Formats: sequence, C-alpha cells, structure tokens
Amino acid sequence: MRKPIVAGNWKMHLTLAEASNLVQQLKGSCESDAVEVAVCPPFTALSTVGQLLKGSRIGLGAQDLFWEAQGAFTGEVSPAMLADAGCRYVIIGHSERRTHFGETDAMVQRKLAAAMANGLTPIVCIGETLAERDGGKTFETLTKQLSGAFASCEGWDCGKIIVAYEPVWAIGTGRNATPEQAQEAHAFIRQWIGKRCGAEAAEAMRIQYGGSVNAGNAAILLQQPDVDGALVGGASLKADAFGTIVKAAAASQTKVVNRS
Ligand code: PGA
Repeated sequence: MRKPIVAGNWKMHLTLAEASNLVQQLKGSCESDAVEVAVCPPFTALSTVGQLLKGSRIGLGAQDLFWEAQGAFTGEVSPAMLADAGCRYVIIGHSERRTHFGETDAMVQRKLAAAMANGLTPIVCIGETLAERDGGKTFETLTKQLSGAFASCEGWDCGKIIVAYEPVWAIGTGRNATPEQAQEAHAFIRQWIGKRCGAEAAEAMRIQYGGSVNAGNAAILLQQPDVDGALVGGASLKADAFGTIVKAAAASQTKVVNRS
C-alpha cells in the first residue's frame, strides 16, 4: 500500500517572517499519520523552517540541488548542504527549471543520481506542454523525460523515488488536468517504471499529480488509483487550502480497497 505524499512547492515566495508564520500554521493542521507531508521553501528559508519543523511530522524539502559535492560553483547548493539544513526531499527537474534555466534531461539525470547517492528523496518532475498534448505527443514526451532521468538507475532502490506528473499547461494556470487525464498519464508512468525498474519498484513508487491542485479539486484527483499524492504550488502558500489537500489525501487511502 502506497502512503500518499503531499508536498508544497513554495517556489520563489516568502520572507523568513512569512515562512515562519506559514509553517506555524501548518504544524498541527497538516500533520497526519495517513499522509506524508513536506514543504519545500526557497533555500534562504530552509534552515529556519527546518528548525521550526523539529518534532513535527512535516518533512523539509528543497526545490533544486547541484550534483557536485563542493567547489567553485557560484550560486549552487550541494546535496550534502541540503541534508545539513535538514532536508529529506528535493524537487528535481521542475518545468520552471527546464523552461527558464535550460535544464535538460541529462542534467536531471545527474541531479537525480546525486540525490540518490546522498540519501535525499527525489521528487522528479515530468510533464508535457500544451503543444505536445495537442499534438498527441504526451506519452512520447513522458518517455523521453523518464528515459533521461532514469538513464543510470541500475542499483537504485527506484521504489523510493517520487515522480511528479505535472503537465506544463496546468502549472499556475488554474486549469488542472481532469482526473481521467491524470490517471491515464500516471498509469503510463507506472507501466514505464515497471519495465525499466521492475514490478516491485513500480508498485512501491509514489506518483504525485501537480498543476493547479487546490482545495476544491484535490479529492477527485487523489481518488484516482495511480495518483499517490500532490505537488502543490500556489495553494501550498495558504494554510487552509494546503490543510484541505492533506485531508483529501488522507481520505484517499480508502480507495486502495477498491483497486483490482
Ligand atoms: P501550481 O504549481 O499548484 O501553482 O500549479 C505546481 C507546481 O509547479 O509544482
């Protein structure tokens, strides 16, 4: 049985005071035995938020990492630095990194390998653009991104990796994928992982949906059999909305009974 995971991607938002205020609200209201919950603040707030989360069930994640251990890489942050700041998770290959900062599948692969080597739980983001979906190329795009990210997965415990399916056209647009579209893509991803990493890893892997998840649509998306949680942007900045999404994930646990 896969435990759902809901992660908040705070992106480039919140000062230290604002981040502290939000995390204080999340503590208690967003903690559940039935759901893994994480927040991914900007680098500047990691340490502060990590301190505030001590003793809480909410985990800490970063939004990116660099693959080298140390050195002359101005502006970059290493996996060990993230672990030192208290991170358990790291988002890799978010579409905004790919679009605005030129991240390629090969870079995603190196980042994923670095996260695995350093004991961080990676949240690997993949997803098609609207042009790719309209052109009937969704599965082709997902295959290309997965093949790139998992190019060196031999010897990894792939079931521990989290994949986030985030259609680019749904991110920050208010237009979420339909539950059917999400389920179709998630089932495809799980099948691909089964072929590449084995049936056990495919069964264990959590696949999150991301893209305009909010308090109103979370429940129906999370009810889909292959949707194992959510990667939440905008709605993760509001304690009420994020709490509702976490509760929807907890309630989705019962769907397991209905899986064939
Ligand atoms: P959104 O962002 O929820 O604001 O659409 C999701 C994401 O980019 O991870």
